[in-house]
Amino acid sequence: MNNFDENNEFVRRKIDPNTTPQNISGRNLGQVRRPQNTAPRAPQNGQAKPRPGTQGEQLRRSVNSGVRSAGTPANPRPASPRTNHPPKPERPKKEIDKGSILRNILIFIAMLAGLLILGSALLLSTLYVAPEKTKTTYSYYYGSDDKSTSESVTVNKVLYMNLTEISDMCAFTVSGTKASLRYTADQGEYVEFTIGSVSAKINGDIVNMEGAALVRENENVWIPLSFGEAYFGGILFERDEEESTIKILREELPESSDEAPIYADVTFRIKGSQTIEGIDEDPDIGDIADMGFVNDLSEYEQYMNPSDRDAYLILVNKTNSISAEDIPENLVSIVNVRQDGRKEQMVECAEKALEALFIEMKSAGYTDVSVTSGYRSYNKQVSLFTTYLQREMANNPSLSEAEAKEIVLTYSAFPGTSEHQTGLCCDMHNLPSADVAFAQKEAYTWLKENCYKFGFIIRFPEDKVDITGYSFEPWHYRFVGRYHATRIHNLGMCLEEYIEHLSRAENQ
Ligand code: DAL
Ligand code: ZN
Repeated sequence: MNNFDENNEFVRRKIDPNTTPQNISGRNLGQVRRPQNTAPRAPQNGQAKPRPGTQGEQLRRSVNSGVRSAGTPANPRPASPRTNHPPKPERPKKEIDKGSILRNILIFIAMLAGLLILGSALLLSTLYVAPEKTKTTYSYYYGSDDKSTSESVTVNKVLYMNLTEISDMCAFTVSGTKASLRYTADQGEYVEFTIGSVSAKINGDIVNMEGAALVRENENVWIPLSFGEAYFGGILFERDEEESTIKILREELPESSDEAPIYADVTFRIKGSQTIEGIDEDPDIGDIADMGFVNDLSEYEQYMNPSDRDAYLILVNKTNSISAEDIPENLVSIVNVRQDGRKEQMVECAEKALEALFIEMKSAGYTDVSVTSGYRSYNKQVSLFTTYLQREMANNPSLSEAEAKEIVLTYSAFPGTSEHQTGLCCDMHNLPSADVAFAQKEAYTWLKENCYKFGFIIRFPEDKVDITGYSFEPWHYRFVGRYHATRIHNLGMCLEEYIEHLSRAENQ
């Protein structure tokens, strides 16, 4: 029994550093063998050890210092005709030749290596294409060519735009507090920002920005330009690298004239929650009659296959965080929770779909599976993560905190990046605590083959560790609704890949 049963996130296994993402990011680089030292090696057993002043030592000195001392007895030259001294007795020729040959070889090798390095550097410099530099200095024009501000705002390489200027230009209604502001356009669509947070809301859906919302002089609010470019409709963003200008203008409708411009409505849209059109539409997916259920689950159909089909596609992961304050609406108790006194919750639609799953799973003979974790608040995730961190450090005191954190991050989400905080996922299995051994159970095989019919996906599959960043979790199931779950199942993708796939299809 371990201390983590209650939270059901601890995985009693050794992390194999060769399979963790940390390995990719260079965690084990210290183990890489260094190239051999190029200094001459010490004599091996059985080799004559050079005596001081001998040719061998001379050779070592010259190589090590790069300077050869002239006229030393160890490296004699033929007597100079200018000297009157009697010629010194010559050492055996063979020995002299050997020394100079060796030295010449070394000089030659050194020159060759130098040339090679120089050549490679020249070759690389011709092949190397400098990474595109992100410009940081622009003049901004909001609404008209006459209205420019020369000030560019770049924070941590993220280019910002002045939302207060855009709000004035579009006559948004501004509400909320200084810390949390909502901008509503004419047609009622809105964006909401919390100052200091990277999380924004678009018509109620959470989206992460490249950088946090800021307040600058005159209480103007600044947000990353990329956010506007991605999600603001009816506003044109024209970035001119040559002129170093960014023009943010309202889109004019064709019937506009110079005297009477008519502007398009401003809209705020999340890609994932837009209607997916074209090649990605598949009307045949999702019919309950095709699911082969042995029970009458018609009353659950509205949950398994919700009419707001795209509303459950939210992506929360290592790079898409949610704020500490985000609490899902409609949390209800999970019926099929482990009967050990714990209380777990999920968003209602997901929980009802889960009830349907349990009805079918029990009919298939798997009666011992239960839910051990559902919605987790931000603070709950803080406490879990801290516990794991302390545990890793206690298990291996030689680890630094940063190293221990890297290990924990392969199986537990940093607070603010766990999708347990969305209330759309749960952990379920039939083991004392969540363990990869669940993948060997027949109940897992059933879940793997059937969970999509109820709108669930395996969120951290075995073959997607490099994409999700988490080790395989056969117990963690995420609700996205039957339409998307079926497509994710058929495509063999993880959620990250699927959302990327949807955006590509949309942009075609
Ligand atoms: N175990 C998953 C990654 C979480 O902590 O959310
Ligand atoms: Zn989980």
